[in-house]
Amino acid sequence: MVFDAGHCPAFLSVLEVSMGSRIEFDFDAPVERRGSWSTRWERYAGDVIPLWVADTDFRAPPAVLEAMHRRLEHGIFGYSAPPVELRDALIARLARLYRWKVEADWVVFLSGVVPGLHLAARHLTRPGEHILVPLPVYHHLKRAPVQAGRAHADVPLVLSAGRWVFDEDRLKASIRPNTRLLSLCNPQNPGGTIFTRAELGRLAGLALEHGLLVCSDEIHAEILLDEGKPHVPIASLSPEISRRTVTLVSPNKAFGFPGAGCAFAIIEDPELRRAFSADHHATVHDASVFGYEAALAAYRGVRRLARGAARLPARQPRPCRARDRRPAGPLDGARRGDLPRLDRRLGTRRRRPAPALPGPRRRALARQPVWQPGFRAP
Ligand SMILES: Cc1ncc(COP(=O)(O)O)c(C=O)c1O
Repeated sequence: MVFDAGHCPAFLSVLEVSMGSRIEFDFDAPVERRGSWSTRWERYAGDVIPLWVADTDFRAPPAVLEAMHRRLEHGIFGYSAPPVELRDALIARLARLYRWKVEADWVVFLSGVVPGLHLAARHLTRPGEHILVPLPVYHHLKRAPVQAGRAHADVPLVLSAGRWVFDEDRLKASIRPNTRLLSLCNPQNPGGTIFTRAELGRLAGLALEHGLLVCSDEIHAEILLDEGKPHVPIASLSPEISRRTVTLVSPNKAFGFPGAGCAFAIIEDPELRRAFSADHHATVHDASVFGYEAALAAYRGVRRLARGAARLPARQPRPCRARDRRPAGPLDGARRGDLPRLDRRLGTRRRRPAPALPGPRRRALARQPVWQPGFRAP
């Protein structure tokens, strides 16, 4: 079972909305998600606690909800160009959080990080070339070379002083003459490792020495629990490694709106950028207008998630027991989109005992098709 405990923001209770100004955010109030088309919660029936994908059960921050409401009130959801102000907000955020100076034309808008992983494998390597993939890792880093028809080597991470890190000798030994791409997941899912500047420096050195490109999935970068362990984007280390790297980032995870979906590839080298984007609109659609709204509101409205490591002992994640949740029926035709009523229903959740799922519904859920073709939770 894939469990992103290392990245789960369950312990954070504060959002910093502007310099020094904080709002409390209730991360403890459970929200009923069964019956809302939740990929995670609809996957298994009955008492199974679905922890297989990093998809948090918290409402999005108030700033995000307000922006979504405003767009909803506008009432027109036409094709929407990637907003320049969102690109600028991203650039400002990367500069503020990581002192990483990104130019406007390095930013490629995406609907999600996953399409970026697949575009990188397909378009930055040629048939016959080879990709290095850490193991274990979020499954799309491995699926990308497989689906692109590229050979790949799994590079097992090893547990060292409580951290899952590369066995650097093994990594070097895995490089072949035709190796072209090193896939990286930083912070690492599922290991939870925040790679240090020194570790990343050695990976960057290896990439430069062997002429490798790097595709770095940094989607979890804003959810760090350990004080004093900063996220370092590998591309920020030097101009040389920046020119060889595709960095994939997104506010989806930290701010809880992967269903709206918005992400970015940051690619300095114009040739790489062109290759990466070659058939972008043929295979990958733009993000939705709600993805843009949510991302902009999160970047503008929440300065950072305050770290809550000090609270950890008192705020250990309570496993959400299925019986704590009141299973709702599926949203039927009349109730689809009826969010106020859904809210009311969720609001009553705590006061009502949770009835068991009726047998036929449980069986139907158990039969339902798997989330992504080929993926099976172990
Ligand atoms: C490391 C990692 N990358 C990417 C994703 C999915 O990204 P997106 O929803 O933006 O496509 C996940 C989701 O769990 C993940 O853990």
